[in-house]
Amino acid sequence: MSDDKRVAKLEIAGKTYELPMYSPTAGPDVIDIRKLYADAGVFTYDPGYTSTASCDSTITFIDGDKGELLHRGYPIDQLAEKSHYLEVCYLLLYGELPSPAQLEDFESRVTNHTMIHEQMHFLFRGFRRDAHPMAIMVGVVGALSAFYHDSTDITDPWQREVASIRLIAKMPTIAAMAYKYTIGQPFEYPRNDLDYASNFLRMCFAVPAENFVVNPILSRAMDRIFTLHADHEQNASTSTVRLASSSGANPFACVAAGIACLWGPAHGGANQACLEMLQEIGTPDRIPEFIARAKDKDDPFRLMGFGHRVYKNFDPRAKVMKQSADEVLELLGVENNPTLQVAKELEKQALADPYFADKKLFPNVDFYSGIILEAMGFPTSMFTPIFAVSRTIGWISQWKEMIADPQLKIGRPRQLYKGATLRDYVDIEKR
Ligand code: ACO
Repeated sequence: MSDDKRVAKLEIAGKTYELPMYSPTAGPDVIDIRKLYADAGVFTYDPGYTSTASCDSTITFIDGDKGELLHRGYPIDQLAEKSHYLEVCYLLLYGELPSPAQLEDFESRVTNHTMIHEQMHFLFRGFRRDAHPMAIMVGVVGALSAFYHDSTDITDPWQREVASIRLIAKMPTIAAMAYKYTIGQPFEYPRNDLDYASNFLRMCFAVPAENFVVNPILSRAMDRIFTLHADHEQNASTSTVRLASSSGANPFACVAAGIACLWGPAHGGANQACLEMLQEIGTPDRIPEFIARAKDKDDPFRLMGFGHRVYKNFDPRAKVMKQSADEVLELLGVENNPTLQVAKELEKQALADPYFADKKLFPNVDFYSGIILEAMGFPTSMFTPIFAVSRTIGWISQWKEMIADPQLKIGRPRQLYKGATLRDYVDIEKR
């Protein structure tokens, strides 16, 4: 952010206020309104933060018009193609691609934190068998703060580092345990001789009665799904983590808040909702009916996996995900998967429809991810927990950046109050 001495002028009741402007390294200029209330006595109004930068950051950049996503400057398609999840984690967390020695050290630190405290196993038993795995994750991740007291002091950079590694390492273990619990199978402990994605697949699909060999193609596809979801600048769940952390709360509690936010169908829950929608459509001949419903103002139905607050072009992650879906299904010998056929035809018809073209609605990352996850054997209820595993690195990188910022202030939005003005209490017998 550079202060280029330009100012924006705002006139209120005949008085002009000068607001500093900043030029980012990429993206639109920003007007600094921090002193506006003190100087002019007015607030700005921006529900949904459509025009508000809530922080400055050096982690991720999105150009929604071009359909570009960069992590520390590197395009997501290059990272998905050439890198792997733990290397991307290092990049997001520390700002640069690691040297071979740095990567080895990082992978070894993550690998050595994959187990969770044995007493945490009892927590799972408190949940109903039919609990959604996201419900379990909100609770269990928050409960990490009750087990790892030695990494909850956010003023200590070393404890912040340990908490970051613990979260990256333990999240797949917790997600896999949530899954095993809901299907009534025993928990599988992590195996440190496996890579991150293979270990996760094993913890989800292995049973003690049989040998389990991870299919390297599926492991690569899993790693790519993790990589594509790793960070997405100030999205709803990341902003939730930042807001929760701004009060000084510990990182485990804040990441639990992020998981809660991610759960919603407008955010991370869209991958589950999208696959369910594709399955409900069932056959390509029913697509026009669903497109008509999505366009109908009186019908709350929306095309899941379509549209994005920031992308007004193809979500670059969706392109990689579509290619991955083709590869995985072909390798599994299910290239004629009817859901994939419906998805491709739906994409084609929606993109040719002026409603979607005019509103710049394109497939987002969730449009194809569910198809891959289903082909791997995951039930829809696991889609959002997998997103949570992937996004943990984004949450903690943004958290770490925020906590290290000397200008950190508690997040405290204002409001446009429209309620009753001052009135006297009326005794109950007089109402
Ligand atoms: N289907 C039909 N119409 C849509 C869709 C959709 N999927 N998305 C947006 N629109 C329409 C809206 O009705 C609105 O129309 P209007 O201007 O006539 O009122 C217009 O496009 C703009 O939509 P908003 O909701 O104002 O856009 P916003 O930026 O607030 O919402 C969102 C973005 C939530 C992602 C939205 O596109 C949506 O609900 N998509 C479906 C859910 C989804 O796929 N979410 C995943 C997001 S990606 C992620 O979290 C990983």
